[in-house]
Amino acid sequence: MESKKEDVRRKHIRLHMEGALTARDKVGVQDFVLLDAYTSESAFVDNLRKRFNENLIYTYIGTLLVSVNPYQELGIYTVSQMELYQGVNFFELPPHVYAIADNAYRMMCSELNNHFILISGESGAGKTEASKKILQYFAVTCPMTQSLQIARDRLLLSNPVLEAFGNARTLRNDNSSRFGKYMDIQFDFQGIPVGGHIISYLIEKSRVVYQNQGERNFHIFYQLLAGGEEERLAFLGLERDPQLYKYLSQNLFGIIASVLHLGNIGFEEDDQGCATIPDTHEIKWIAKLLGVHPADLLEALTHRKIEAKTEEVICPLTLELSVYARDAMAKAVYGRTFTWLVNKINSSLVNKDFTRKTVIGLLDIYGFEVFDKNGFEQFCINYCNEKLQQLLIERTLKAEQAEYEMEGIEWEPIKYFNNKIICDLVEERHKGIISILDEECIRPGPATDLSFLEKLEEKVGKHAHFETRKLAGPKGRKRIGWMEFRLLHYAGEVTYCTKGFLEKNNDLLYRHLKEVLCKSKNVILRECFLRAELENRRRPPTVGTQFKNSLSSLLEILISKEPSYIRCIKPNDRKEPSKFDDFLIRHQIKYLGLMEHLRVRRAGFAYRRKYEHFLQRYKSLCPDTWPHWHGPPAEGVERLINYMGYKPEEYKLGKTKIFIRFPRTLFATEDALEFCKHQLVARIQATYKSCLGRREYVKKRQAAIKLEAHWRGALARKAIQRRKWAVRIIRKFIKGFISRNKPLCPDNEEFIVFVRKNYILNLRYHLPKTVLDKSWLRPPGILENASDLLRKMCVRNLVQKYCRGITAERKAMMQQKVVTSEIFRGRKDGYTESLNQPFANSRINEGDINPKVLQLISHEKIQYGVPVIKYDRKGFKARQRQLILTQKAAYVVELAKIKQKIEYSALKGVSTSNLRDGILVIHVSPEDKQKGDAVLQCGHMFEAVTKLVMLVKKENIVNVVQGSLQFFISPGKEGTIVFDTGPEEQIYKNKNGQLTVVSVRRKS
Ligand SMILES: Nc1ncnc2c1ncn2[C@@H]1O[C@H](COP(=O)(O)OP(=O)(O)OP(=O)(O)O)[C@@H](O)[C@H]1O
Ligand SMILES: [Mg+2]
Repeated sequence: MESKKEDVRRKHIRLHMEGALTARDKVGVQDFVLLDAYTSESAFVDNLRKRFNENLIYTYIGTLLVSVNPYQELGIYTVSQMELYQGVNFFELPPHVYAIADNAYRMMCSELNNHFILISGESGAGKTEASKKILQYFAVTCPMTQSLQIARDRLLLSNPVLEAFGNARTLRNDNSSRFGKYMDIQFDFQGIPVGGHIISYLIEKSRVVYQNQGERNFHIFYQLLAGGEEERLAFLGLERDPQLYKYLSQNLFGIIASVLHLGNIGFEEDDQGCATIPDTHEIKWIAKLLGVHPADLLEALTHRKIEAKTEEVICPLTLELSVYARDAMAKAVYGRTFTWLVNKINSSLVNKDFTRKTVIGLLDIYGFEVFDKNGFEQFCINYCNEKLQQLLIERTLKAEQAEYEMEGIEWEPIKYFNNKIICDLVEERHKGIISILDEECIRPGPATDLSFLEKLEEKVGKHAHFETRKLAGPKGRKRIGWMEFRLLHYAGEVTYCTKGFLEKNNDLLYRHLKEVLCKSKNVILRECFLRAELENRRRPPTVGTQFKNSLSSLLEILISKEPSYIRCIKPNDRKEPSKFDDFLIRHQIKYLGLMEHLRVRRAGFAYRRKYEHFLQRYKSLCPDTWPHWHGPPAEGVERLINYMGYKPEEYKLGKTKIFIRFPRTLFATEDALEFCKHQLVARIQATYKSCLGRREYVKKRQAAIKLEAHWRGALARKAIQRRKWAVRIIRKFIKGFISRNKPLCPDNEEFIVFVRKNYILNLRYHLPKTVLDKSWLRPPGILENASDLLRKMCVRNLVQKYCRGITAERKAMMQQKVVTSEIFRGRKDGYTESLNQPFANSRINEGDINPKVLQLISHEKIQYGVPVIKYDRKGFKARQRQLILTQKAAYVVELAKIKQKIEYSALKGVSTSNLRDGILVIHVSPEDKQKGDAVLQCGHMFEAVTKLVMLVKKENIVNVVQGSLQFFISPGKEGTIVFDTGPEEQIYKNKNGQLTVVSVRRKS
């Protein structure tokens, strides 16, 4: 926050710096020293006017500030303005009263010395305002501690009080200070304001009893009467200051009120020409308010004590003298009360801490005054200005000379008017005007203002700066009155009227009145009129002498301090804004000695600047010094001005500063800078942009690298993690493998779990798909038992599944196959081949059986039918027949004829060979008178035999024979069938009348 504010401030300053010199054409120069026609008053006025029209009321002459009263609020006294000027190099910002204040303050802090700021100018030119601005500046910008705030506030608040008592509305200024004021602000070593002291000069007491037409008495009277009317209080800031009023209460207001009452006392003349006061009403009031005895007061106002050698004589006063006494009393009471007030304020401002302090003095003093009629006051005031002018000349010239000496620069002293001669004319002991006046005041015998004038003519008549009507030649005579004398001040001639000089210088308060006042019960008044004064029989010093003395002590105070000057100018007589009265201003320029001051400043060099600062500003003008000069600044500056082509008479090089004689040289340099700036800006911009771009690029690149690095790191860490993990797993695996056969232990626990899991998971892909598939995944050693169990379960499951999948038909066929197997397995060739030939329900469709036959056996249900070849029992002739089986009997059918019916009850057995032939012999029992056994050859021998056996329900009736078999032909007669093997199948009747059946032997 703080740094941001500072940034903004710096920016402002830079802008001002840039603007300051370059904007000179528009609003003149902001330092008169830079004015080329520096001897021309017109040029001076022009510059002032140009700036005034732009509301630029401040202009420098070197370090002196010229201020023109704007008679309007300009908004240039804000806190932000104050901050702007704080701690900034004097010439870096436009001229301002704050710059003067800040400069004095900085110098005081850094050099630990004392300063004063002299503010002068005519009435209404803005002196008091300027001094207030300076006070405010210190109040706002100086460092502060809580406890010291009181000191600061009192300093600020003393102003309205003093203004109430010391300011009045005049024709020239509504708030005119009627006293000179010097205020010391004391700072401790840290630069904190800790206390103060005020000295007042020559309060215009006469205002109490007399005001010019259109003017007013001191503000306080009106304030008192108005009883703190809001508007006026606000204007004078009274109510803000209760602390200072605490003591006022009755006493102070009593005094003020008594002064008002004094004015209303009316005198009359009695028969003897003595003054009387017929109405004692006012007297009573005054006596009450001042705490004096009314009779005493009455007497003191109308009588005078004259001291004879041993006794006091009281003699009455004339009316005129009484009025004088009354007025003298009013003035004395008011004047001393004012002094008392200043002392009171001082005692509240005093800092009791005796550590070393530095001070800044503010001198708000009346400027040179030239009216149509000039009296004693103007004489004192102008004398004061004469003295201050001398101080200024001396200090300025001295300072200038000191600087040249310090810098080792040759310097030709310039001629200037030394006004010491005028000062002497006024103040010289015994010979000066003040001394002559004093003499005239104390001289016995009738002294008048006129006799004083004559004395002057006599004693200083020959002085070159003194003139009277009598002394002036015929030309000047007309312009000087009989009662007047003229002084040729440094600022011009002023004609003074001697009327009232003696009286004002005497400022006599009759002893009688003094005595009354010394006895007052009013506490304040008692402090103002001390009894000691009565005892002191010596004449009090005259006003003129007092003023002279106080001025000389003021000058002593000032001479030991470093000066800053503010010259205030009043733009017009009508208190109007934006009115620039050339005549009036020329007049002020003259008697403020501004042209003189400018000449002194310009006698040497118009412009001087420390090498560092000069180089800093203009280094861009020379390739050697731009952008950086690394050598000593002085050399850099030399290089620079050589490059710029400065002529030898245009400049001088001091020890720490360059001195430029003519403004035009500086302006040429400025113009060059202005021209150069644009190029520089482009270059700086380009460099800056490239710098920004590069910075951005580098930033991005670094970010990318960082990201990459981090990402790689992350990947590497992940990989290493994986590897570590893998190593751990592998190691565990190996350990587990080594100890796989040991009892379960931590080493092999996981391995075993893994193996188990793995085996089981694997197993699901290798399970046998059918009941006949006998394959099985080989189990690891530890899982053999489990594997066996699983295998069994699996088989059982498969079997169960298989069984559930079998149809009733297939089941029946299977049962038949089982029967076949029981009969033929291992006994007859060709059985194995027959296994995969499924049995049929029948080999003959019912449609292929002759209907007659069907008719014949209609009461029985046909179970099976198959075509067969029947061999005659005798001749072994082969005949095509059908073998039809019902549940009761087997029929051998030839077309429509049942050739042979064999009841199962009569069926004795069935014979077949062990060879691969299809011969089957159905044996019947002989007693059944059957035709004999049937010798049949069937293509589906296994099927037919099985069906028959199952229908017969006797399983052991089948006889598988080897070699031959006997069969029954008729009772007592048997046939034989021989079975043999051979290269081809044959059935024939052999020589022995036997049926030979040859089968092909095949390995099965
Ligand atoms: N810087 C300023 N800005 C605005 N107004 C100003 C400024 N300075 C002076 N004034 C106006 O001018 C008036 C007179 O100013 P100020 O009282 O300071 O004059 P002065 O020089 O002290 O006169 P005097 O010698 O009579 O005391 C102020 O009351 C104010 O209205
Ligand atoms: Mg003033």
